[in-house]
Amino acid sequence: MTTMLRRSLSSKAARKVAVLPGDGIGPEVMKEALKVLKRTAELFPKCAMTFEHGNIGGAGFDAHGEHFPAVTKALCERSDAILFGSVGGPVQEQHMPKWKDCEKNSLLGLRKAFDLAVNVRPAKVYPTLAHCSPLRSELLKDGVDMVIIRELLGGIYFGEHTTEGDSAKDVCTYTVAQIRRPLEFAFQAAKGRKGKLTVVDKANVLDTSRLWRKVATEMAKDHPEVTMDFMYVDNAAMQLIKAPASFDVICTENMFGDILSDAASVLPGSLGLMPSASLGSKLYLYEPSGGSAPDIAGKGVANPAAQILCGAMMLRYSFGEEAAAAAIEAAVDQAILSGVLTGDIAPPGTKSVSTSVFGDAVVAAMKA
Ligand code: IPM
Ligand code: MG
Repeated sequence: MTTMLRRSLSSKAARKVAVLPGDGIGPEVMKEALKVLKRTAELFPKCAMTFEHGNIGGAGFDAHGEHFPAVTKALCERSDAILFGSVGGPVQEQHMPKWKDCEKNSLLGLRKAFDLAVNVRPAKVYPTLAHCSPLRSELLKDGVDMVIIRELLGGIYFGEHTTEGDSAKDVCTYTVAQIRRPLEFAFQAAKGRKGKLTVVDKANVLDTSRLWRKVATEMAKDHPEVTMDFMYVDNAAMQLIKAPASFDVICTENMFGDILSDAASVLPGSLGLMPSASLGSKLYLYEPSGGSAPDIAGKGVANPAAQILCGAMMLRYSFGEEAAAAAIEAAVDQAILSGVLTGDIAPPGTKSVSTSVFGDAVVAAMKA
């Protein structure tokens, strides 16, 4: 056997992960996630992975003059999954070419290039961290644990955008095929959870919403074990705050999902706890829900939990390694339960730990 052939066989066994740390706190939280993934691969030998780094966002601009450089795209193309950090710069520097349209170019570029049509954003309140939530404890007592499935490649985001003189236009379009993709995932997700699916729309006003309802109603016949209901988006925004424990799986179109997932993300009390996944036809991307937080970047205080939990989602959805994914989630739970808390989740007046101490605690809590 030639050396080349041997190399290609051995690399087949190890999954190739494109690591795109990006800007702000991205690189420092990514370091902790990789630490945990390397420990996971020791404990679960089937989870062998190789990690190749690429530049995206402001870091892409610095290295190659583009937010989503061609070399980064090529790296993703030869990988089995994308582990993404965060992109974007400080508010006061938004006018600089390095940051102008940085999030849009990087994220929408990746979504389009890799057909990432289904976005999965879980929102869960850790009972031990109820003090972090801006909501009163009585609203949380029934347990808040939901997942928002957002369509990511259609609707007003990718419709025609034009400005002519005093008038501007953004077009919202959906096809049946585009609507079916997130809904199919949402029905399956509901089956593995509490069996409840809420489809959110504005069917009292929009034709696209009425099409969503029609498609969801037809699909529901094939999923009798799931209880489906519809909710207008304005009411859903209200219920997320008034009755967050009443939700299980929410499925909705692109822009409503953008807004509702930010609303849901404040329920746990810190964005640092929220991973997300974007699922495509070939490979999937994993990204913390919080931003690049330039104000705290480089200080070693950011919460790496979301980035670490992205690693767990990657093992589950991209590589089918449920036991390893669950082991990471349990280790994060245990670190939090044992009171190893970064500043964003430590109760006022208590001692908090650094980014790397939290990562170390998760590594120490890992069990096969
Ligand atoms: C998100 C972000 C993006 C979106 C922006 C940066 C284009 O808000 O991922 O939710 O609106 O999708
Ligand atoms: Mg958003």
